[in-house]
Amino acid sequence: MPRVIFVASNGARREVSEAAGASAMTAARINDVSGIEAECAGALSCGTCHVYVAPEFASLLPPPSEEEEGMLEFVAAERRVGSRLSCQIVLTDELDGLTLEIPETQT
Ligand code: FES
Repeated sequence: MPRVIFVASNGARREVSEAAGASAMTAARINDVSGIEAECAGALSCGTCHVYVAPEFASLLPPPSEEEEGMLEFVAAERRVGSRLSCQIVLTDELDGLTLEIPETQT
């Protein structure tokens, strides 16, 4: 199972494992990682599952869809180069160790 490392805005790290095929947002929710609100539960309509993907993993992800790009326009925290919606990141074995920083706020 791929591991995902969530890094809170205060630097606290939390490593979880979740089955390939699950989303990074699901991995956060199942494992009670705080800071991922995910109000729409992955319906791509809330923007509260915003994360910053570590640079070394950014190129391993497929580019965001037009819909994800649209939602990223409305995220509460600063949008950065690595900004993605965690509900749109599908875990794969290749992404083992995926490191995602959680923004200070989602709302
Ligand atoms: S959970 Fe709502 S956009 Fe990702």
